[in-house]
Amino acid sequence: MQSRQIYFCRRPDGKPAPDVFEERLVDVAAPRDGEILCRNVTVSVDPYLRLKMYDRRSYTPPLRIGEAIPGRAVALVLESRAPGLAPGDHVVIPGGWQQYALVRGEAARRIDLSVASPGAWLGPLGMTGMTAYAGLMHIGRPEAGETLVVTGAAGAVGGIAGQIGRLLGCRVVGIAGSEEKCRAIVEQFGFDAGLNYREPDLAARLGAACPDGIDIHFDNVGGEISRTVASAFNDFGRLVVCGLISQYSGQQHADPAALDEFMRLVLTRRLTVQGFIVSDLERKFPEFEDRMANWLQTGQIVHREHARSGFGEIVPAFLGMLSGENIGKSIVHLAD
Ligand SMILES: NC(=O)c1ccc[n+]([C@@H]2O[C@H](COP(=O)([O-])OP(=O)(O)OC[C@H]3O[C@@H](n4cnc5c(N)ncnc54)[C@H](OP(=O)(O)O)[C@@H]3O)[C@@H](O)[C@H]2O)c1
Repeated sequence: MQSRQIYFCRRPDGKPAPDVFEERLVDVAAPRDGEILCRNVTVSVDPYLRLKMYDRRSYTPPLRIGEAIPGRAVALVLESRAPGLAPGDHVVIPGGWQQYALVRGEAARRIDLSVASPGAWLGPLGMTGMTAYAGLMHIGRPEAGETLVVTGAAGAVGGIAGQIGRLLGCRVVGIAGSEEKCRAIVEQFGFDAGLNYREPDLAARLGAACPDGIDIHFDNVGGEISRTVASAFNDFGRLVVCGLISQYSGQQHADPAALDEFMRLVLTRRLTVQGFIVSDLERKFPEFEDRMANWLQTGQIVHREHARSGFGEIVPAFLGMLSGENIGKSIVHLAD
């Protein structure tokens, strides 16, 4: 059997283009002891992949030229030589951008597609939802009545983080890149306000939307937008550094005074600033899956996905997500 698979072939300078990737047809081996052979049903496209394209120290090793692109997928087990997994099971696996994947059984998490769709298992019930939940609970520590600002608010993580904050009693203000996104986060996700960062006077509009100041910023974007939010922090505010997507393609904000001004705010307003990587925190929240499943089943949290279909759409979906085409979780359906 052969599988279409996408490889990394060039380090991008700035925004990645399609020529960063190369598709190859590869042979698929039969599973050995402890392994499962799967057909990828739905693959996830995620911003962290852009960070892995730099040849520098990070929280995961950089991609090597010629390496297969990694990533999570919902998959169907075709053959199993791993205990507890059988053909016909659906699993979330590190399946990568390929049609068929051979993985260790321990790396697979069996899922029930009658509980939620593949997109939801990659979104709110998967790494995306855990990121929103763990970052907010561990670092944001929201209390009812506080004001939470979420940047990247209409995206996969941001949309869920804001909805969790609303359920916990916060006033939630989202910042996103279009009027359509701002409408969606208010009308579908129940945020109290949505602000388009591409319109002028973000600071003034943010001040009006947060009359009691800002207690928590769940930050997915970094850069100038984050500095604007920081200036409205209340004393003892918490900055949850989840992502810095505005900086991932090498954008520089070379204002030497900006860091000094930020550090002045950290000191004088006694801010907590903490970055996190979801894999460091997930074991701290064993209640997550049951709680999120309940929120979804009772309609208290809305899952929205931005789906494309077909293997040839994986790279366009990734590039489109980096450019902001999505509301909700970006995924690509490959098979039933
Ligand atoms: N810490 C962790 O463990 C962890 C885990 C998962 C994800 N993350 C981070 O969480 C963030 C969101 O990830 P996601 O998977 O939910 O992606 P996403 O938000 O669904 O998609 C990316 C979004 O980023 C926004 N964006 C792109 N360039 C931007 C810019 N220059 N300025 C402001 N916004 C920009 C776009 O929305 P607009 O139209 O609004 O610009 C785009 O839709 C990323 O920074 C990611 O790296 C962190």
